[in-house]
Amino acid sequence: MVNYKDLGLVNTREMFKKAIKGGYAIPAFNFNNMEQLQAIIAAAVETKSPVILQVSKGARNYANATLLRYMAQGAVEYAKELGCAHPQIVLHLDHGDSFELCKDCVDMGFSSVMIDGSHLPYEENVALTKKVVEYAHKYDVTVEGELGVLAGIEDEVSAEHHTYTNPEEVIDFATRTGCDSLAISIGTSHGAYKFKPEQCHVDPATGRLVPPPLEFSVLDAVMEKLPGFPIVLHGSSSVPQEEVDTINKYGGKLEAAIGIPEDQLRKAAKSAVCKINIDSDSRLAMTAAVRKVFVEKPAEFDPRKYLGPARDNMKKLYEHKIINVLGSAGKLDC
Ligand code: G3H
Ligand code: 13P
Ligand code: ZN
Repeated sequence: MVNYKDLGLVNTREMFKKAIKGGYAIPAFNFNNMEQLQAIIAAAVETKSPVILQVSKGARNYANATLLRYMAQGAVEYAKELGCAHPQIVLHLDHGDSFELCKDCVDMGFSSVMIDGSHLPYEENVALTKKVVEYAHKYDVTVEGELGVLAGIEDEVSAEHHTYTNPEEVIDFATRTGCDSLAISIGTSHGAYKFKPEQCHVDPATGRLVPPPLEFSVLDAVMEKLPGFPIVLHGSSSVPQEEVDTINKYGGKLEAAIGIPEDQLRKAAKSAVCKINIDSDSRLAMTAAVRKVFVEKPAEFDPRKYLGPARDNMKKLYEHKIINVLGSAGKLDC
């Protein structure tokens, strides 16, 4: 049994309280590899932002659970080396799908876990979430539950249509499960194809497709039922068009990739939404930089020469999110 406090990590409780009060959101960035982790930590330290490092079940399978855990521990030391004596870093399980997986993460030193029972019938979601909360709270590990289903298909997450969160259920769910935060469905979805072109209109100024707005009425109703309760938004990548264009220019084939406009996320970050999940944008930034090097320097075969630019591009993206979208820059007393 490893306790996260011994690793220098923190849970989400105080972080979320401050974020709601301050009208900003904490960035929750997924990582699977060293370059992503370096970029996240360097961006968080340079902007003086708290940060949530997210590990999915797929990431654990890809990179090895033990190695990822030690990398997160290393991240705390790396942040200190970069000049932040008191970093606020959460190690969070993203989309845990069973009690056993959540327990394993708690036992390994995670400071926060998500139990995603959103695809289950309501009573089963309540029972599973409650069971995870009872175990995690023994070790002061915070728990994110989810109500409502996000559309989108990824390795471990798949559903064809949204089911918006029913605000009538949130009090009952939060009270009976004891969860510390709640992920809700208001029109975001996972991956780089969040909307179909026919759902969008063309912005005459830029010629870009603009998707329909998020369902803020659902968020408002949830906040009315649970005043001050920490709300989480998954599927919040914006799918930057410049990265998509670079990928396509250098041999990629991403057609009609559309994300959540940043103004929608800025608006959400000012509300009780205090955790915003971003993964796909980092994948795009990494892929764009790697593709560019491969095409422009075909003789290059030292991985540092393409993973280095990929890391730089991801760091730029993380800093942009922290400073210009989530508003968490400067909220950490390093
Ligand atoms: O919400 C899912 C995250 O983007 C993680 O994706 O399961 O492919 O690692 P993954
Ligand atoms: P994106 O696919 O929009 O980056 O969402 C990531 C996410 O929700 C991780 O849980
Ligand atoms: Zn998610």
